[in-house]
Amino acid sequence: MRAQIIGTGSFVPPKVVTNDDLAKIVDTSDEWIRTRTGIRERRVTDENTAASDLAFLAAEKALKASGLDPNDLELILVATCSPDTLFPSVGCILQDRLGAKHAAAFDVSAACSGFNFALSAAAAYIEAGKYKNVLVVGADTLTKYLDWTDRNTCVLFGDGAGAVVLKATDEERGVLSSFISSRGEGGKYLVMPGGGSRDPEEKMGRFIRMDGKEVFKFAVKALEDSILKVLALANISLAEVDLFIPHQANIRIIDHVTKKFNLPEEKVYVNLMRYGNTSAASVPLALDEAVAENKVKKDSLIVLSGFGAGLTYGANVVRW
Ligand code: UT7
Repeated sequence: MRAQIIGTGSFVPPKVVTNDDLAKIVDTSDEWIRTRTGIRERRVTDENTAASDLAFLAAEKALKASGLDPNDLELILVATCSPDTLFPSVGCILQDRLGAKHAAAFDVSAACSGFNFALSAAAAYIEAGKYKNVLVVGADTLTKYLDWTDRNTCVLFGDGAGAVVLKATDEERGVLSSFISSRGEGGKYLVMPGGGSRDPEEKMGRFIRMDGKEVFKFAVKALEDSILKVLALANISLAEVDLFIPHQANIRIIDHVTKKFNLPEEKVYVNLMRYGNTSAASVPLALDEAVAENKVKKDSLIVLSGFGAGLTYGANVVRW
């Protein structure tokens, strides 16, 4: 059994914040952000919107595209590191809002790698014969956890959600291989210190703290390694891949890997200029846009890959 992606969907909040908007509140410039990251603008949720609201709208679209009814779902996995509440999970909130009465639901915490981790788990459930219809969502609202006076972080992130519906198939398509890995020793480089059981009163702050240079070094290596390992697992060469969809954090990280592997630029999907780093949403949001732009067709071979806090990294090879 393989886990075939039979529907995709995404949603971003309507409010656009440009680099020039940020230059009005913090010591930065459009020129610096564009040249150092590739980002031009990002979407930001309003105060009444939480991760589950974005997840719901993306999931509705993915379900519609798949032709499945919420009642068909047996499992819902939501990758997020900005859940509405510590509990209930976003998965359970989403299950209720969708009316997916027969689905078990839980969240996956692997930050920006979350979607690739959740997709690999969902595929494993399907391959094992446990479930046939699974919804996987990546949804994050990291702008709620930004220190808007810290130019090292506040220019990088945006909000959004992306979703896929998986169905068991006996055809040789869907998720062909998955690779996930963690480097807990590097956890200190990208941290949300407050709000957890170590610091429930958030004395350490509920803002993202990042050592950008360390994360950058890790990210370049993680992207390279995850792509090579996941392709080796599927016995597929770099040249056979039709489209690479890397985590959308920084164009310099993506360019590094594009050059290193000598990939044609049109085979590497990039939309970070419009959304910034949307964390767990980044890969499924890019996938949904690539599908809408007809860059993914029947039989296309695609590689989804990501890296993030934990530190974590992972990838999936999918035949459409
Ligand atoms: O999903 C995983 C999430 N995280 C990432 O992927 C982040 C990975 N890291 C990065 O993308 C990059 O390291 C950054 C974009 C965060 C930073 O780029 P960099 O080229 O590593 O810049 P830097 O930190 O070395 O800073 C260079 C200079 C510094 O000034 P000085 O010390 O040379 O005077 C910074 O203070 O740029 C300054 N700087 C800024 N200037 C204007 C840092 N942030 C900004 C800013 N605007 N927003």
